Amino acid sequence: MPSQDTHARLPHAGYWPVISVRVPIEASEAVVKEILEAILGQSSADELAAITVPESYRAVTVHKDEAAMFEGTPSRDKDPRSSLHVEDVRTPEPGPGEALVAVMASAINYNTVWSAIFEPVSTFAFLERYGRLSPLSKRHDLPYHVLGSDLAGVVLRTGPGVHAWSVGDEVVAHCLSVELESPDGHNDTMLDPEQRIWGFETNFGGLAQLALVKANQLMPKPAHLTWEEAACPGLVNSTAYRQLVSRNGAGMKQGDVVLIWGASGGLGSYATQLAIGGGATPVCVVSSEEKAEICRSMGADLIIDRASENYRFWRDEQTQDPKEWQRLGKRIRELTGGDDPDIVFEHPGRETFGASVYVARRGGTIVTCASTSGFMHEYDNRYLWMNLKRIIGSHFANYREAWEANRLVARGRIHPTLSRTYPLDQTGLAAHDVHRNLHQGKVGVLALAPEEGLGVSNPALRERHIDAINRFRDV
Ligand SMILES: NC(=O)c1ccc[n+]([C@@H]2O[C@H](COP(=O)([O-])OP(=O)(O)OC[C@H]3O[C@@H](n4cnc5c(N)ncnc54)[C@H](OP(=O)(O)O)[C@@H]3O)[C@@H](O)[C@H]2O)c1
Repeated sequence: MPSQDTHARLPHAGYWPVISVRVPIEASEAVVKEILEAILGQSSADELAAITVPESYRAVTVHKDEAAMFEGTPSRDKDPRSSLHVEDVRTPEPGPGEALVAVMASAINYNTVWSAIFEPVSTFAFLERYGRLSPLSKRHDLPYHVLGSDLAGVVLRTGPGVHAWSVGDEVVAHCLSVELESPDGHNDTMLDPEQRIWGFETNFGGLAQLALVKANQLMPKPAHLTWEEAACPGLVNSTAYRQLVSRNGAGMKQGDVVLIWGASGGLGSYATQLAIGGGATPVCVVSSEEKAEICRSMGADLIIDRASENYRFWRDEQTQDPKEWQRLGKRIRELTGGDDPDIVFEHPGRETFGASVYVARRGGTIVTCASTSGFMHEYDNRYLWMNLKRIIGSHFANYREAWEANRLVARGRIHPTLSRTYPLDQTGLAAHDVHRNLHQGKVGVLALAPEEGLGVSNPALRERHIDAINRFRDV
């Protein structure tokens, strides 16, 4: 849509003094090009630091004045291609504890779909609330929202008080943005009352040429991966790690049977790898033979094709069918040789939750991080309390959990599940594919990277894992 024209979008409530001049986009484009050439030419940190920060950059946005554009349209028909814009926005200056990153690649997460279809609420409500917190956070409350909760790139500038990261560092960013001014978050940062998901509940996200993060979101980029491969695990791998492995989630142990919904999707493709790597037995639920084959290629043997087996957990919008829960439970026992799942890895929500509670073993755990098909869940509580099951809510991951999840990727123990990559200008199409469940694993987006395949600095490790790295790639 907008702004190949003359000037960048300027509405800005700045923490730092904002010079209210209109920014010639051509000048910024030249600087962005210079940054890219420096990164590709592996210039020194000093050389990179000597390049002026551009006043604007290209970014994927939604617009506040379009938040009602899909009113009356069924969810499925709300098309991210209509609401996502690729345009020039003003560069924010990194404040205390922050870093400005040159983004080589990013990825689509389902939260980009939620933002793009303005469901369940417009994300501008999050930005307004964040904006009321402090002069620094006020910068985020803008009439446009730069989306994106993953990135792989290079640190361009750091704000005051940042010592652990420097200009030129190759990084990935996890998406936990946390203030930590309250005592509540100091055991587990996810419990901080001012915890947010960067690029969803904050502005200046990763689907852009530049991104603003808190320095405590940064982690080393896995050296054996390309930019686009490195950008895709962050959000989902960290979420799956907390949800399944961490003691804050289900605390999976060797030998556990884990039922994984959407096992070849964003979260599920990492949950499946984590289960196998951790000595558990995944029972993978998918909706096509193609997806089943991908799960087999990850090493999963027990697979349920929910489409061909035609589970109908709801008779109509109000009424579930317990016989269908029983049919699923029986099928799981057939596959496992009689075991029920110790853990059910939940995220589809309303459509599957009743079944998930039913099929979990006595004393088992249903761990949920989402409600893609609807958040008003219904289940038969008799199966929960009489069988001493637990439901655990899980959300993203704290820095330590994200770090541990990233370390598994960096060591070649968990592999990216990138299937396809789009240029930044086609982010709307990429989000459309994820919304319509047309994708496998993760969908990547090239930001500054001019092509796929760049950014590898440990080719030997890559060579050892090349088949696993390419497992999800479109053929
Ligand atoms: N709380 C958090 O921190 C967090 C983090 C990441 C994601 N999420 C949320 O988790 C959800 C999934 O994210 P994702 O990245 O994994 O998305 P995804 O890549 O679209 O994968 C989800 C998979 O779930 C399956 N599925 C979808 N609808 C279903 C239904 N009605 N019944 C059964 N299976 C269904 C689909 O697989 P099949 O068609 O093959 O069965 C789909 O591929 C989203 O709502 C997202 O917003 C939350």
